[in-house]
Amino acid sequence: MAQIFPRWTNETPRLITLGTLAGLGVVTFALYWWASPYHTDVGYKPKQPVPYSHALHAGELKMDCRYCHVGVEQGASAGVPPTATCMNCHQQVKLGSEKLKPVYASWADGKGDKSIEWVRIHKLPDYAYFNHSAHVGVGVGENRAAIGCETCHGRIDTMEVVRQVQPLSMAWCIDCHSNPGPNLRPVDAITKMGWSADLGWLAKSQQIAATLNPPGSLSQAQRFVDGHYQTYATASCSGCHR
Ligand code: HEC
Ligand code: HEC
Ligand code: HEC
Ligand code: HEC
Ligand code: HEC
Repeated sequence: MAQIFPRWTNETPRLITLGTLAGLGVVTFALYWWASPYHTDVGYKPKQPVPYSHALHAGELKMDCRYCHVGVEQGASAGVPPTATCMNCHQQVKLGSEKLKPVYASWADGKGDKSIEWVRIHKLPDYAYFNHSAHVGVGVGENRAAIGCETCHGRIDTMEVVRQVQPLSMAWCIDCHSNPGPNLRPVDAITKMGWSADLGWLAKSQQIAATLNPPGSLSQAQRFVDGHYQTYATASCSGCHR
């Protein structure tokens, strides 16, 4: 009588086991990679052409972030300062410094048109749109509030070398958009480091969140207003992928 199951089927359980193990391996690796700094870039901290220290300038010397990142309240980009900004002080301070050599070199030729080539750290893919001005100033009138630099960039005032502390992933954006209240702070604390809310502010920030567009959760896709649906930038794909 012919065999119902051909001989190779004896191998089947073993193949299934091997296949399953290999599959699990791939899935485990994918999950590991997905969460790892290779994917999210958390911890990314490249070597810069000048050993410029935020811990010194923003920490010890207490310079405001906006002295150098002048675009942050009006524009999409915060901007990295040109050599001219450094020269406001370094024309007098530390003239003989080895560490400042590239700064003086970039100033000497062509009167500072040649700026230092800083390595970019925080970078979204081109298909994603982000705007600083929409974040460091939110709401209107007496409901004006802000998301502080610290919330998205961490304690820059303690960093000798800037490193990325948040994943800048889509899930990260949407997490905050779904419940922005706890991340709001008063406008005069935009650049403050180590700021924390008191009870009075906690209540007020929820009130302010309720006046945002759409109120409460920015991830709410649509709202029925005056007989038609309104769609919100923060919830629709095209708000962030324009
Ligand atoms: C004296 C000027 C100066 C001040 C003040 C300053 N920065 Fe910077 N910042 C720079 C320069 C120059 C770079 C580029 C080199 C580097 O990454 O360290 C930079 C880089 C950065 C980056 C990384 C940019 C990228 O490539 O992704 C962030 C974020 C940042 N600064 C935030 C802040 C915050 C927050 C403050 C205030 C607490 C601040 N900076 C104060 C000059 C300044
Ligand atoms: C408001 C004044 C001010 C500005 C603007 C400023 N610095 Fe400085 N910087 C200082 C002071 C003060 C020191 C510390 C000097 C000391 O150690 O005695 C310093 C120190 C440094 C040092 C260390 C020098 C050494 O030999 O130890 C570097 C590098 C430096 N700054 C780079 C920069 C760069 C790059 C910029 C522009 C993005 C800049 N600074 C803008 C005031 C300034
Ligand atoms: C809501 C989160 C958020 C806040 C608040 C925020 N940033 Fe950023 N920042 C980002 C993201 C995201 C990027 C990358 C943007 C891109 O690649 O288009 C970035 C990039 C930067 C850069 C480098 C690129 C550029 O825009 O020039 C600097 C410098 C910077 N931020 C400084 C600041 C400073 C200073 C503050 C506070 C005044 C601040 N940021 C507040 C999220 C934030
Ligand atoms: C910590 C909180 C927080 C994080 C993180 C955050 N956002 Fe927002 N975002 C807000 C708030 C609050 C508003 C609403 C501003 C208003 O209503 O005035 C907003 C508004 C926006 C808007 C609408 C404003 C405009 O320019 O049209 C876009 C687009 C946006 N965010 C994109 C992003 C992207 C992309 C990321 C991630 C890279 C991100 N946001 C991360 C809090 C955040
Ligand atoms: C609040 C802003 C925001 C909204 C709304 C948003 N995205 Fe994204 N999306 C991002 C950012 C930022 C990235 C880049 C993430 C990264 O670099 O890891 C991204 C990445 C992606 C990617 C690339 C794959 C990935 O996950 O990294 C796809 C696909 C995508 N988005 C689709 C969508 C679709 C579809 C919608 C509407 C349902 C949407 N996005 C809404 C911010 C947003």
